[in-house]
Amino acid sequence: MTRFTTPLISISRSLLCGAALLLGACGSGQDGKSAAPAAATPATPPVAASPAIQKIYDTTCSNCHGKPGTGAPQAHDTNAWAPRVAQGKEIVLGHIINGYKGMPPMGMCMQCAEDDFVAVTEYMSGVKLQ
Ligand code: HEC
Repeated sequence: MTRFTTPLISISRSLLCGAALLLGACGSGQDGKSAAPAAATPATPPVAASPAIQKIYDTTCSNCHGKPGTGAPQAHDTNAWAPRVAQGKEIVLGHIINGYKGMPPMGMCMQCAEDDFVAVTEYMSGVKLQ
């Protein structure tokens, strides 16, 4: 009879240890997960346009990006621009230069440089392209 008690005790001890280890691990895990304070979303700073960029916008891009109903994301409509600028500078610039759906190649500004397209897009979207 006594032969059986020893192994039984050692089994129950190891179970207790295991439970203690699990509890310990669980406790420390919860501590590590303590919720960080949610970072406040900074308000989008308006991107100012230089007179030259304003002129490009006024004479070309505004024909669609300043006219509701054209299907173009409207200037300063940050919600409309958010998913577009999120694609990244390279893709957005490629869409401007090559055209994209209703967007004509180079936005019909044949004399515009890549930097101009980036600056006008930042002006319209209010987001610095990255
Ligand atoms: C003839 C109308 C028209 C003109 C002019 C025009 N656009 Fe657009 N543009 C559009 C339309 C329509 C879309 C939306 C295309 C779509 O997603 O269906 C668009 C989309 C865009 C986008 C977003 C592309 C993307 O990846 O989602 C950018 C950036 C843009 N235009 C920049 C410009 C700039 C800069 C100019 C001026 C140099 C300009 N556009 C001139 C019609 C125009």
